[in-house]
Amino acid sequence: MGNIYFDNNATTPIDPAVREAMLPYLEQWFGNPSSGHRFGEAAHGGIEAARQQVAALLQAPPSRLIFTSGGSEANNLAIWSAVLAHPERKHIVTSAVEHASVLAPLAFLQEKFGYEVEILPVDQGGDFDLVALAAAIRPDTALVSLMGANNETGVLWPVERIGALCRERAVFFHCDAVQLVGKQSLDLATLPVDYLTISAHKLHGPKGTGLLYARRMVPVTPMIMGSGQEHGLRTGTENVAGIVGFGKACQLAGSAIAEHAELLGGMRDRLEAGIVAEIPAAQINGGAMARLANTTNVSFKHASGAAMIQELDERGIAVSAHAACHSGDLDPSHVLRAMAVAESYLHGTLRISLSRFNTMAEVEEVLAVLPGIVAKSRQGFAL
Ligand SMILES: Cc1ncc(COP(=O)(O)O)c(C=O)c1O
Repeated sequence: MGNIYFDNNATTPIDPAVREAMLPYLEQWFGNPSSGHRFGEAAHGGIEAARQQVAALLQAPPSRLIFTSGGSEANNLAIWSAVLAHPERKHIVTSAVEHASVLAPLAFLQEKFGYEVEILPVDQGGDFDLVALAAAIRPDTALVSLMGANNETGVLWPVERIGALCRERAVFFHCDAVQLVGKQSLDLATLPVDYLTISAHKLHGPKGTGLLYARRMVPVTPMIMGSGQEHGLRTGTENVAGIVGFGKACQLAGSAIAEHAELLGGMRDRLEAGIVAEIPAAQINGGAMARLANTTNVSFKHASGAAMIQELDERGIAVSAHAACHSGDLDPSHVLRAMAVAESYLHGTLRISLSRFNTMAEVEEVLAVLPGIVAKSRQGFAL
């Protein structure tokens, strides 16, 4: 039985070098980074070195990086900061395929505080219309929040063009780049983004650590207040080992982005070609779009995603149907619904997401069992 992990958009395994970097901060350098003795100073030094490593990956000033408990907190912090910066502006633009940690706080603002949240639709490929975005932005728009790469389909959006448009219209642009960072190069020295979210556990770092980048002069209002860590923008004794691991993960990702993308793209292309050749009535969602090299989102007509995931799991192969936070749900993904995937395909969806720790042999192993599993889950249905 295989032990194949193909759910890397949910979370990634920690790189052994990340683990090595973290260990001293769990053992001898356990001090509180705010303490004045050498235990504290070592911990503080670890955090600041990590900040430099993340900054190098993003080409961003280290002073504009705020460590948080993860991508969800960073998304909430960006939204909160942008709306409080201009309390008179009550209009926000986002898309139908954002992560729950963007959609939920926006729904809250709408429900409890009367914000008008305009949700841009996407087409069948998972793309959205820049002209529609331009038309949606108004003088009272407080924020545009659009992701860089979709966590379910891997579809990439034109961050630079979105940012340029927002800048032209003097509106804050927040980009949830959780799935993008580490997989594609970003240069925040030139990219017109005001707020950008990252999460360590999507790039072979530890869970529970993330970060919000806020461009110089772009306001940040803390959600958590207290003793003033992170320049008062995110109080709380820092997750030192997590942050150190995050920094190391960024350094490792940045050292070989192009090589990793080539490796992943080769495996992903083989996987998709094998699926389409061997399994009738299979569609790759977002397949015609520019996508992350590691992600395949495939729907099989009249199949059951839940049944296929279970069958694969019994063979030691881990994949998912959609975002991890919903995987317990029987409901199909809001992303695929927004892409108008036909009902007969919607329920038979697998998200297969690879990492640099996967191999072509694992891809072949999955291709060897998948046709049988799909056929079994289709029993009783004529195609
Ligand atoms: C696109 C996107 N945004 C935000 C998040 C949330 O990040 P975290 O798990 O660090 O809270 C995720 C993770 O599932 C994600 O895929």
